Parts: sequence; structure tokens; C-alpha cells
Amino acid sequence: MGRIVLASNRVVDLSKAAQAGGVAIAIADLLRTRPGLWLGWSGKIVDKGEDAHAAPNVVEDGTTTIVTIPLSSREYKDYYLGYANGVLWPVFHSRLDLAQFESGYYNRYLEVNRRFAHALKPLLKPDDTIWVHDYHMIPLGMELRRLGVQNPIGFFLHIPVPGAQTFLAIPEHKELARGIAAYDLVGLQTRVDVTNLDHFFLDGGLGQVMEDGRTKAFDRELLTASFPVGIDMESFLASRPKKSRERPLSTIRLIGVDRLDYTKGLPQKFRAFGRFLEKYPEYRRKVNLSQFAPPTRESVVAYADIRKELETLSGTINGKFGELDWVPIQYIHRSTPRRMLIDIFRNSRIGFVTPLRDGMNLVAKEYVAAQDPDDPGVLILSRFAGAAEQLTEALIVNPYNIEEMADAIKIALDMSLQERKERNEALLAAIRTQDTFDWCRTFLNTLESVHNREARPMGGPTPDALLEAQQAPLLVPTRPRAGQS
Ligand code: G6P
Repeated sequence: MGRIVLASNRVVDLSKAAQAGGVAIAIADLLRTRPGLWLGWSGKIVDKGEDAHAAPNVVEDGTTTIVTIPLSSREYKDYYLGYANGVLWPVFHSRLDLAQFESGYYNRYLEVNRRFAHALKPLLKPDDTIWVHDYHMIPLGMELRRLGVQNPIGFFLHIPVPGAQTFLAIPEHKELARGIAAYDLVGLQTRVDVTNLDHFFLDGGLGQVMEDGRTKAFDRELLTASFPVGIDMESFLASRPKKSRERPLSTIRLIGVDRLDYTKGLPQKFRAFGRFLEKYPEYRRKVNLSQFAPPTRESVVAYADIRKELETLSGTINGKFGELDWVPIQYIHRSTPRRMLIDIFRNSRIGFVTPLRDGMNLVAKEYVAAQDPDDPGVLILSRFAGAAEQLTEALIVNPYNIEEMADAIKIALDMSLQERKERNEALLAAIRTQDTFDWCRTFLNTLESVHNREARPMGGPTPDALLEAQQAPLLVPTRPRAGQS
């Protein structure tokens, strides 16, 4: 079996991946079971005088090679803050109003990707399989192809694909489409994302969707399919500390854990909680909302704005309803160790996960996984989180509808134990069926099979071949699941 070569903007210390959570765990697990290489940004910004373009830093860690490169402060500003997080992030989350289309950003974005490609090319072996992650690196596959790389290259987008008209508003949408078309396989979180990408190619006159579902664009044929990211329930639950630090609660808790990002719908969530207290006064003093909102990307203006808005809003609601012995909203602008979250989730009657738009949202899955099956809490979930496509037994809400969210809190609090158990069981089954290992396995099996069948720019797998690939023997060894020896 050849190596797996991963590329992502963030590279996590393998020994700390469990703490980082989410996809970092999946990648770290994958690298434990298969020799590999992980390429990305070192996290360092090199000041004037130092050479940002020096040779990449290569570290061997068992059978894994970690290759990182620093960014110059200009690259950090234009590639990371500018194009990735000032253009692609807002537009892909359907916030065209927040996009900062500045000339120069795209060119630097391309330049940094070119630099990653040049760093990677000499380290590649003929039987490597390359898997590129997320919006920071859309052009990496194209740049590798330009350098003559013929290995299978797949791309997975962790964030949503916007509607075609929104995507087409990006001035460089054609260049982005060309970058996407350079991959053999493009993996997306949901079926809606796949449809949106098809429409983007069609409506923009950038490519055609063929009868068998593949897309033909820029003289290439590529397969797009959904591969929902999951969690590894066992290792998540195993990371729980032996001694819980949770003190007995005097109130019923709603929990929210989201980076302080404008896509997470935090003001709407706070307003809905305020409305709930107004509409159902019998719950005052009995219920509180605890919201962890760790800081993120603070140099981008829109993030400073959302922080101010939230601080004002929590202050207003606490001022209006609070009592000497009861603070309705606990707003914590810090992260909490991930392993501590298990008990916090378990002791919270409601998981309140209401992003305005989200690729997947693994917190929703972790909340469900952490519940006591004999007395589980209720998940309130935004219909615009990718997770809603699988977690249909949650209380699904429209995060723009404050009244509906306020009522959902009441429904969740009044729900019978029987119904809570039934919903929790169904949600757990959905989470177990498509866990993090299934995600890695199906993506890589599909990529390798697509490439083997092609080995030429045109021609590719039929939907039957795709199905076959998804059922093929494992290329990625999986850890035995509960109940398996
Ligand atoms: C999202 C993106 C990831 C990103 C993470 C944290 O989950 O999909 O690619 O790494 O946010 O954001 P940051 O800007 O700190 O890397």
C-alpha cells in the first residue's frame, strides 16, 4: 500500500490531535495506520529579515513525515486572512455582504499554493495517494498537475458550497473552477453541496454534468460526491477524565460550543433564549444557557463586530431577566479542553446547535455521543448545519426564526423520557453508521478506484463503479468498533 499524503493549512501535532478534535483526529488516526506525509503551514509568521521562503521544515515522526512551511506576514495577510477567510469563508457560508474582494488577494493565495506544491513535489513517490483538505488549498491539485504529478489527487471541502449565483459572484470563480476540476475526486459534506457544485459548473458555463453524474470541465472529468465527516465515538468518550469536575447543577442547562464566528448564529441563539424567558416566565431561574465561544481569526473585522454584538446582547438579556442568584446566560469567550466537554454535554439537558450555515458541525454529534442513554438530553439543531442531513431525529429548527427556536426549547424541556430515549437511539445509530473511519475509508477507496479506472484525463467511473469502490475492501485499516473483537 502506498503512502497517504495529506495537505491542509493547519497541521496538528500528532500527539495532541485528540485534544484538537474533529478532523485532526481522523487524520492522525489515518497516519497511525498507514505510512504518510502531512504538509501544511507551520503556524509561524516570519518577520522581515527572516527567510519565509527557506526550505520547508521536515520532521520524521514514526512512519509519518511532517512537512511545514512558514508564511511571510504579507502572505498571512493576503492568503490566510484575505482570500481564505475574507473571501472564500464568507461567500461559501452565503455571506456575500461580508466578502472583501480586494485585488491582490487571489494572486497571493495562488502563490502560496504554488509554494506548497513546489515543496511537496520532490518528496512524492509514484504510488502516493494525495488528499488535499479545505478551502485554503483549492488550487493545490492544479499546481501539482502543472508540475507533472500524475498520482491520484482528491480534495475534500469541509465547509458548505453556496448556491450557484453566490459562488459566481466571486471575481475569480473561473480560476477556482479550474482548480476544482484538476482533482480526480471532490468530496463534499452533503448532497445539497453536491447539487450546488453541479449548478455552479452548469450556470457559470464552466462545465457539464454528464449522464452518469460526473462533471466534465476544463478537459477533465471529475467525480463529486458527498462523504459526511463523522466522529470517533469511542476515542471521544475514552478521553473523558476519570474524575468529573462538574459540580451538581441547580438549574437545567442548555449548552452551546462554537468558535466565535458570524456563521454560528450566536446572536440569534441568544435572542431565542431571551424570547423563551419572556414567553415562558415559569422557566425563569430554572434554566440557563452556557455558551462557550472561543476567539478565532480576530484580525478579520467581521469577527471583532460579532464579538461586540454578542457581549452587548448577553449583557442586555442578563440585565433584563437576571436575579442576584441566577444569571440566564453564561457567555465564556474561551475554549475548554475537549475532554472536559463530555461531562458538560452529559449534564446539559439541551444541546443548542444553531449555526446559520455550517459544513457539518461535529459538536452536534459529540453532544449526542456524550448523553446518558437512560436519561438523554435533546439536540436542537439548525437545518442549515450539514449534520441535519443525517441527524433527522434532532429537533430541527430554522435559526433565523427566533419564535420557532424559543418554542423548540420549551418542547425539548417538556419532552417525555420515552421520546428522548427514542430520539437519542436513532441519532446514535446515525452517528455510528457514518463515523470518522467510514469517512476516510470511503473517500480513499473511491479516490483510488476512480484513479485506477482512469489513468487518463478523460473517462472515469460510472455510478456503479463508485458504489463498488465504496464497498471495496478496506484500504485504511479501521479500529474495531464496540461489540467487535
Ligand atoms: C473550520 C475550517 C478549518 C479550520 C477551522 C479553524 O473548521 O473548516 O479548515 O482549520 O475552521 O479555523 P482556523 O482559521 O483557526 O484554522
